Amino acid sequence: MFLDDCPKLDTNVTVLSAKRRLVLEMDKEPLIYMDGKFVEKSKAVVSVFDHGLLYGDGIFEGIRAYNGSVFRLVDHINRLYDSARVIRLKMPLTKHEMSEAVLETLRKNQLRDAYIRLVVTRGSGDLGVDPALCKSPTTFIIAEPMSSILGPREPKVLRMMVSSYRRDAVDSTSHEVKSLNYMNSILAKIEANSAGADDAILLDRRGFVSEASVTNIFLVKDGKVVTPSSAAGILHGITRDRIVRLCQDLGLEVEQRDVTPFELAVADEVFVVGTKSELAAVGMISGNSVGGGAAGPTTRKLYQEFSKLVVRPEEGTPVYEAAAESV
Ligand SMILES: Cc1ncc(COP(=O)(O)O)c(C=O)c1O
Repeated sequence: MFLDDCPKLDTNVTVLSAKRRLVLEMDKEPLIYMDGKFVEKSKAVVSVFDHGLLYGDGIFEGIRAYNGSVFRLVDHINRLYDSARVIRLKMPLTKHEMSEAVLETLRKNQLRDAYIRLVVTRGSGDLGVDPALCKSPTTFIIAEPMSSILGPREPKVLRMMVSSYRRDAVDSTSHEVKSLNYMNSILAKIEANSAGADDAILLDRRGFVSEASVTNIFLVKDGKVVTPSSAAGILHGITRDRIVRLCQDLGLEVEQRDVTPFELAVADEVFVVGTKSELAAVGMISGNSVGGGAAGPTTRKLYQEFSKLVVRPEEGTPVYEAAAESV
């Protein structure tokens, strides 16, 4: 061997092993939290007797992490435990332990910007509907990389339609409970897909505007911001709540009240908000242009302010530093 070849050979070996390490890293399966353990994605399975699967009997949260901080984790955990209380599901962990499980799932997968799905089902039972036969809940947490669409750009503009499906009434299987029963939203989404719309707006039983399939809705008229109240069977959205407070901080008047489809049609601006969708303008409803078909000034302002807000440390719980904020 020529002496000159040695460093070259060494470098190649280094390059090769670095490449191999990269491939191995890429091959590594995401780790899913399952009832207190972390298991690889391909092994993360639930029983076919789980009532979450058989009957949609369970609850969940869709949560977001921005730059190593879980946005409004405390609010999500509180909402999850409220849902559990209403469906009388005895939670297997304390709120603090559940928050820690979320943070640990992000740490195990080395994620900083992510979408997190936290699910608690009634657990395995027999084929009957009776939840009394389900001995212990099933808990799993999935975290996937997801970057924000927020930023210096303009908000997305959506084409929506008013669905023929109605949001369930507040004394029924209301979306006030974030349960695993999403058929109402799914049917509306199928309808929107067939009509070539991006999403559907559901009215409540009385004919007032409720919300979209997975987002809460707002309108702006004459400088005033209006959003349907809980009477319309909405999910008590965490983004909605933060946007309401953001409006107040910006000196905008906000009303939470019944909204008619007419008011939506003649609004100056309409926008939707949610954890996954963040904030998007609505430019068309059932073929009629809304707000000139583009994001209006209030929507753009809220979008810019919300983009700055989601990464503020005080808005979330740090993943990699101190222990979880106690709830
Ligand atoms: C039916 C429904 N409404 C509204 C929202 C928005 O809620 P949040 O801001 O808490 O994500 C969601 C979110 O999944 C939803 O499913």
